Amino acid sequence: MHKTEGNQIASPIIVALDYNNAKDALNFVAQIDPTLCQLKVGKELFTVAGPDLVRKLANQGYRVFLDLKYHDIPNTVAQACVAAADLGVWMMNVHSLGGSRMMEAASDALSRLGSSRPLLIAVTILTSMSDDDLHEIGIQSSAADQVITLSQLARKAGCDGVVCSAQETRKLRQTSGEDFLLVTPGIRPKGSDTGDQRRIMTPEQALQNGSDYLVIGRPVTQADDPIEALRLINTQISQLNP
Ligand code: C5P
Repeated sequence: MHKTEGNQIASPIIVALDYNNAKDALNFVAQIDPTLCQLKVGKELFTVAGPDLVRKLANQGYRVFLDLKYHDIPNTVAQACVAAADLGVWMMNVHSLGGSRMMEAASDALSRLGSSRPLLIAVTILTSMSDDDLHEIGIQSSAADQVITLSQLARKAGCDGVVCSAQETRKLRQTSGEDFLLVTPGIRPKGSDTGDQRRIMTPEQALQNGSDYLVIGRPVTQADDPIEALRLINTQISQLNP
């Protein structure tokens, strides 16, 4: 469950820095250290704070997941991935609904960067979407089936893993193999607000179901004491280790 790196046990937590300004994000980061979590910079923070903040976090030793869910024509996505890699990010993502050729273009472009290339993850179905939401946009399969189909496409196209709901990880482990990374948002420790997420799980359940990384935003960043909330989740999940 926890990945061992050197002597350090790295946390599987990726904190979603969903702040609307760099100051608040950096204020949170100043109170933690890279052994406690990875950091995710998404659309809101990236739009206000831009690449400088991403470089700054990477230079502070954080593994940064740039969550911009690229979805465009293959050439544009491939070039965007190369630009993201240049910022020093550890992980980035594309939207699998962009199709195989788009994902392959991204994967091929990153492969040319050699062994230090960032991880490429495909978004399957957003964890905020229910089966009804999918039907409304013309996708008749269930979210669960659609996630399997999209994950298989992503794997064939050279992606390192997928973003998926923790409710789908057991099935995906069987269909996608042990080395395919499963990154799961929609994580809610007991007692925290569900918010707009629909397919949720606790951190412990998610890891037991085979998640490699847990993306956690509001339960940490909106907690009365965010640092304590992060430490508490780390403590709870470390007790799952043998
Ligand atoms: O606050 P919360 O824990 O719900 O945050 C989840 C984070 O994961 C958000 O930044 C959201 O954009 C992201 N995410 C998601 N579902 C996906 C992909 C990313 O919730 N399928």
